[in-house]
Amino acid sequence: MLAPTVAHLDFERSDGQPVVFAPGQFIQIHFSYADGTATKRSYSLATIATPGAAPGTAVEIAVSYVPGGAATALFEGLAIGDTVDASGPFGRFCLMPNDANRRYLLIATGTGVTPYRSMLPLLEQQMATRGIEVVLLLGARSPDELLYGDEFRAFAGAHPGFRFVPCFSRRMPAPGSPQDHPDMRHGYVQQFLDEFAPDPAGDIAYLCGNPDMVDACFEALKGKGLAVSQVRREKYVSSK
Ligand SMILES: Cc1cc2nc3c(=O)[nH]c(=O)nc-3n(C[C@H](O)[C@H](O)[C@H](O)COP(=O)(O)OP(=O)(O)OC[C@H]3O[C@@H](n4cnc5c(N)ncnc54)[C@H](O)[C@@H]3O)c2cc1C
Ligand SMILES: NC(=O)c1ccc[n+]([C@@H]2O[C@H](COP(=O)([O-])OP(=O)(O)OC[C@H]3O[C@@H](n4cnc5c(N)ncnc54)[C@H](OP(=O)(O)O)[C@@H]3O)[C@@H](O)[C@H]2O)c1
Repeated sequence: MLAPTVAHLDFERSDGQPVVFAPGQFIQIHFSYADGTATKRSYSLATIATPGAAPGTAVEIAVSYVPGGAATALFEGLAIGDTVDASGPFGRFCLMPNDANRRYLLIATGTGVTPYRSMLPLLEQQMATRGIEVVLLLGARSPDELLYGDEFRAFAGAHPGFRFVPCFSRRMPAPGSPQDHPDMRHGYVQQFLDEFAPDPAGDIAYLCGNPDMVDACFEALKGKGLAVSQVRREKYVSSK
């Protein structure tokens, strides 16, 4: 468990074939309701793949368990070694090879941060080759719900061009606790956009997770002059 109600699940293709994907893409898990009706749910890939290396067979996802959820019940009932049906990858919520921006604003709530985890090696490459900057704003209720917080903090520590700013909606880390850090805020991610001076001349923004957050940030960024093409979005809507 990454958090009290969020699981990190690590799968491997059972046929041994490589999983070829671009960071930011998602897969679909196929299963049936109790009455036998087929259904599916989408999950962003959290897998960190090394750019240029041969694709592996690993499929990592982070699943936020919701009360009464059908896929939630499926995942909660899995034992180590069990198999699920999946298809993909799908989606275009990816870093684009021809981007000429100066900075990426990466914004997420909850499990919406997994695409950015997957993008870390590509971002590292772009920081080295084109000197881009990256700001990651991640919304969580409290320190115990901050997903992959240690990984992002360590990455920010090792890369001066990368800023990690957790935004806690309910409870901040206690002073002196392991997650206490000057770069954190109290509130929703969209409340802190102004502080980072969104720039139509140099920014590309990515928004992922809670649909209301995505809409609020989209409107705020448009208000700052960013074109629709400069704001890429993935809403975690329920496909029930
Ligand atoms: C492109 C895409 C990528 C996604 N990636 C991820 C991911 O990486 N990780 C992840 O956890 N989810 C992700 N989702 C959401 C995921 O597909 C499911 O919707 C989610 O896991 C709930 O499925 P469920 O079957 O457990 O609940 P359902 O049976 O679909 O819903 C049960 C009840 O919970 C409500 N509900 C569903 N989701 C939420 C929520 N987030 N907050 C509050 N209430 C909710 C429903 O409205 C319903 O009342 C993604 C969705 C999309 C479209
Ligand atoms: N303690 C709890 O109540 C709790 C804990 C875990 C999971 N859950 C339930 O589990 C489900 C999924 O939770 P999740 O954590 O994966 O995703 P989520 O509900 O989207 O929450 C992730 C973060 O986004 C914030 N948020 C909510 N609405 C927002 C908005 N309009 N704009 C910006 N930020 C917003 C949340 O703050 P706020 O929640 O503070 O508004 C939280 O900090 C939900 O049903 C949730 O209610 C509840």
